[in-house]
Amino acid sequence: MAPKEESRKLNRFYFFFMLQVCISFTLFTIFLKMKKDSLTNELPEVLATVGWRKPTLILLWTFPFGQEFLLNRCPEEFDISGCFYTADRTLYSSAHAVVLFHRDVCTTKTQLPQTPRPSNQRWVWFNNESPSHCPNLAIMNNLINLTMSYRVDSDIFAPYGWIEKHNTTINFTIPKKTKLAAWAISNWNPNSRRVKYYGELKNHLQVDIYGRLHLNMPRDTQPELLSTYKFYFAFENSIHVDYITEKFWYNALYSGCVPVVMGPPRENYERFIPRDAFIHVDDFSSPQELASYLLSLDKDEEKYKQYFNWRSQYYVPLQDDPWTVSYCRVCKALKDAPTFRTIASIEKWFKD
Ligand SMILES: *[C@@H]1O[C@H](CO)[C@@H](O)[C@H](O)[C@H]1NC(C)=O
Ligand SMILES: *[C@@H]1O[C@H](CO)[C@@H](O)[C@H](O)[C@H]1NC(C)=O
Ligand SMILES: *[C@@H]1O[C@H](CO)[C@@H](O)[C@H](O)[C@H]1NC(C)=O
Repeated sequence: MAPKEESRKLNRFYFFFMLQVCISFTLFTIFLKMKKDSLTNELPEVLATVGWRKPTLILLWTFPFGQEFLLNRCPEEFDISGCFYTADRTLYSSAHAVVLFHRDVCTTKTQLPQTPRPSNQRWVWFNNESPSHCPNLAIMNNLINLTMSYRVDSDIFAPYGWIEKHNTTINFTIPKKTKLAAWAISNWNPNSRRVKYYGELKNHLQVDIYGRLHLNMPRDTQPELLSTYKFYFAFENSIHVDYITEKFWYNALYSGCVPVVMGPPRENYERFIPRDAFIHVDDFSSPQELASYLLSLDKDEEKYKQYFNWRSQYYVPLQDDPWTVSYCRVCKALKDAPTFRTIASIEKWFKD
């Protein structure tokens, strides 16, 4: 009967062994469950001792006009290290900054975050429209900590475009020109200054008009098409400090045309670009005088070429997505931001 006795012993051993495993496992699970919450909260502090920092969380309250794009993909020069961008509103209470795009939140106060703001959270007001197209600014009174716009005196300067310096002097090749002047306009308002100005100009100069109600501008070949024109009319929809839009930077300069601008005074443009890079309507006493100057340049190749001299040293970088790039600026600005500040009235500043 010895073998039977042996196997009973063995079974008993297995039974107690398995019982022990089960008890240990259960205890361990309970321990983990208890520890889990404090673990996720303490982990950043523990890691901080070895140099890891909790990322600065930047919440886009909306994607501007609902147009989504990839976050956390910024050109190197913006250095977004230490920041994490999200559009997930459930992370509101842990966000260090919330970016509010004015046009998406200005209709009623209920479009703004409704839950109480954590004490260390900054609200960044982002706007790229001119004051003439920027309703309900008063809604922002006493809510905003930082501003981001095309105005140089914003906390975060987010222009429509800019120039950068080449490493070495280059020989710029002027694109081949076959036509005289172009203007693209989508909002044709007969009472606006720019349309009235054109009404007089067209008696003296041939201008091809693109946009709704006019010639069709194919989106994908726009720069190639515009590059065949000697002049491009970069007429802003309203006249305000620093309000110089993609009409100037992209349609005219990036395409390789000489811009003829209507906008803030010449000195304002010269804050951003050499004075010989553009022609200003204010340099002339009338549309007719401007027309005769442009016609004289059309006949004088050497003089026309001088409007490209600046391009041996500078170029206009192309932004794949100007929205993305504006948001990329927030990270660094937060690191340099004043500790505590509230802007009493955005309106008073922006509408001046
Ligand atoms: C400019 O020069 C720097 C350093 O010499 C170089 O790393 C960079 O690639 C150059 N950029 C261009 C656009 O040539
Ligand atoms: C630019 O053109 C000049 C005159 O034609 C020439 O001497 C010079 O080497 C060129 N520079 C470059 C960088 O190609
Ligand atoms: C941001 O503005 C709010 C609202 O006025 C204010 O309570 C808060 O202290 C400000 N925060 C910072 C960091 O400036």
